[in-house]
Amino acid sequence: MTTATAHFSKRLDQTAEDTEALLAELLSDMLLPDEIARPKRLMEAMRYSSLGGGKRLRPFLAVESSAVFGVPREAGLLVGAALECIHCYSLIHDDLPAMDNSDLRRGRPTLHKKTDDATAILAGDGLLTLAFDIVTRDEIHKDANVRLLLTRALARASGIGGMVGGQILDLAGEGRFGDREPVDVARLQQMKTGALLRYGCISGAILGQSTPSEYQALDDYGRALGEAFQIADDLLDVEGDAAALGKPAGADAALGKTTFVTQLGIDGAKQRVRDLLARADSALSVFGAKGDVLRAAARFVAERKS
Ligand code: IPE
Ligand code: IPE
Ligand code: MG
Ligand code: MG
Ligand code: MG
Repeated sequence: MTTATAHFSKRLDQTAEDTEALLAELLSDMLLPDEIARPKRLMEAMRYSSLGGGKRLRPFLAVESSAVFGVPREAGLLVGAALECIHCYSLIHDDLPAMDNSDLRRGRPTLHKKTDDATAILAGDGLLTLAFDIVTRDEIHKDANVRLLLTRALARASGIGGMVGGQILDLAGEGRFGDREPVDVARLQQMKTGALLRYGCISGAILGQSTPSEYQALDDYGRALGEAFQIADDLLDVEGDAAALGKPAGADAALGKTTFVTQLGIDGAKQRVRDLLARADSALSVFGAKGDVLRAAARFVAERKS
């Protein structure tokens, strides 16, 4: 392991640990002002799907993009926790029988298998709304306008023109709505997966009130990283195994998904990941050595095995 990789792994582990603790606190039974009750079944379901698993890459990106601008770690962690809530909700809904119909997630039964569809839908809804409660909190930044920009950007990354929109394009790509139009895989992936990962990267620039060119650099980096991440996910679905992935392998082919792997073949998809890695790397050049951890993150994304 190179020194840069070891340094990256240590920081990823630390962020995962801190995110776990923060999410456990945010998902505790303690009522917030104006909340009437926190129903036990809902809280247990939300905790089941948010605690004790996952690489926590999105919180890592929020924390590290914030660190580039010297933003306090607590602020980056809160934004990261909000983003992880959206991510966990997207996974719960993605696994439902009406979507990818998957039984295994993070090495455990999916939430709807463990409970039932209604509980899984509502736990997802609860995590989505909690994310917006978190990202607007005063502790994140003293300037309310910064919090507003962070919140709006999170809505755009999660919603119609981001993750949710991408998920419907993904399902349409299976042909299940009878669409006959060719699938624009780059757009689909940019939306369903890229948008949330990009948000992690630009959130630091928003929090750190960066210059426009610094924002642009993190935006470019986030877009390249986001696309590389989903292509790697699609490659792992073909080449990985369920034990290492903690989720089923071969699911995309079984569902008839259109991905870069089906469009470019395995070698073509791998070449595209390498090109994206180079793009992510060069986008960070404005930050010099301060961009090293993010550079290592892009390599991790491209080379990951789970
Ligand atoms: C899985 O994301 C879903 C995709 C967007 C491909 P991750 O691979 O980040 O899942 P966890 O959070 O580590 O479980
Ligand atoms: C899921 O993509 C993306 C979102 C949850 C938004 P996939 O369907 O490929 O994710 P996995 O492979 O089930 O983790
Ligand atoms: Mg899916
Ligand atoms: Mg899926
Ligand atoms: Mg997948």
